[in-house]
Formats: sequence, C-alpha cells, structure tokens
Amino acid sequence: MKAKILSRLPPEFPWQVQYFETLDSTNTCAKALARSGAPHGTAVLAACQTAGRGRLGRSFVSPRGGIYLSVLLRPCCTPDRLSHLTCAAAVAACDAVEKVTGLRPGIKWTNDLVCGGKKLAGILTELVTAGSDTAAIIGIGMNCSQSAEEFPPELQAMATSLSAATGQRQDPAFLAAALLEALAEMDRALFSGQQEMLERYRSGCITLGREVSLVQADTVRHGTALDILPDGALLVQLEDGSREAVNSGEVSVRGMYGYV
Ligand code: BTN
Repeated sequence: MKAKILSRLPPEFPWQVQYFETLDSTNTCAKALARSGAPHGTAVLAACQTAGRGRLGRSFVSPRGGIYLSVLLRPCCTPDRLSHLTCAAAVAACDAVEKVTGLRPGIKWTNDLVCGGKKLAGILTELVTAGSDTAAIIGIGMNCSQSAEEFPPELQAMATSLSAATGQRQDPAFLAAALLEALAEMDRALFSGQQEMLERYRSGCITLGREVSLVQADTVRHGTALDILPDGALLVQLEDGSREAVNSGEVSVRGMYGYV
C-alpha cells in the first residue's frame, strides 16, 4: 500500500510519509512525533485504527477500507493565527475527493464532509505547544472502499463511503495520495490564500442558510446559520433575533444525521 501511495505522488513531494497497517490513532502517533521533534510535513497513515478519536471526545470507528491520515505541520506562528486550519483542511479534502472521483462533497460546519446527506469524512485538528513552538496535527478519517452494508446498522443511515456514493469501487491508495497532495497545497497557501479558501469553504458549506440546533454544555438552542467568519466560526441567528459566533460544541443541521 505504501509503495502504491508513493507511486502516485510527484517525485519532488516534500513530505515524509509513514505508513502502518494498524495504529491506535494516527493523531495520537503524530502528536507523539511532534513532541519528539519530528519535522514539518510528517504524515502518518494507517489502514485501520483501534482507538480513532473524533471531536468532543468521541471515538471514530476506523475499519479497513477507510483512510486514516494525520499530518504534522509547524507553521511558525502563534495558535491564534491557526483558527482557520480545520476549514482549510476541509476544502483540501474536498479537492482531493473531487480529483479522484469527480464528485465534490459538501461540508457540514465545521469538520464533516458529506455526500447525499451522510457523513463521508471527519477532521480532527489538534495543537501541540511546547514553549513558543506550536505544532498542528490535522487528522482526517474518510470512508473509502466500504460498501453501504459494511457499516454497523446504527451508522447505516448516517454514514457513507466514496465507493457507496459513486457506485464504483474507490482505491484507498489513490485517495491517500490525492489527500496528501491537496494538504501540501493547502499548507503552501495557508496564510496567503486564506481569503480565497474561506470563499471556497462558504460555497461548499451545506450548513449555511439551514436551521441548526446548538448543543453547548447542557443547553440546546435553535437558529439559522448565516455565515462563516474569517476565523472559521459559524455565525448563527438565534430564535430571539440575536446573533452569535459559534466556535465549539455540537451543531446539528435539520434534515441531516437523523435530526428532524
Ligand atoms: C470527527 O468526525 O469528529 C473527527 C474524526 C477525525 C478522525 C481522524 S482519523 C485520523 C485521525 N486519527 C484520529 O484518531 N482521528 C483523526
């Protein structure tokens, strides 16, 4: 698999790729590598994960057939300048999928890629700071070659894969190479291309204009998603007419993932 991935990358590809058949979590591995001084552009790929992690402390089911990739970046800036990183990674992941399949997923704010109203991929961005040094880990888990029946029954209504969405078997190695290339391109334009990236995020974001519910701590509020702010926050108009920039917590979109 590693040879197949590398053979799809240009010879001058600047990143170091580490490949594992099984890992607990590529993000956990990349964080450990960051702490031990691994360089900018260290990429960790696994064919499956035994303890994949998602946002909000959730686990991320990671069987074979998916792509589990974490990239370690050392962007030489303070953490407050990286608030758009998850949005940038989402746009890059959409570019990779479109390159391989011709199909462009939608983005459910902030970190899900969706096809046909079902989750195709999730992104978990984590920062590792040591003194004035900040390393960023971008972790992407994407369902690739699984058939619809392979998902556990409780996920079948909510999850899809590239093969299920396109009706054609998709090769995880091709997708992995495209993801690596798209993320390296994202890295090159991380600051110079921030505005253009945000425009592309907005135009692909299926959350905008939809009714949403916001779950923060133990309160649930309802509103309409209006915009994505420059730092990647979601601007929501609440039922009482007030507007709020949402950065955290669960945002459900009415009509998706079983929210009716
Ligand atoms: C989410 O949907 O909440 C985010 C899921 C992110 C999963 C990816 S898989 C590769 C990397 N390793 C992890 O443990 N998590 C991320």
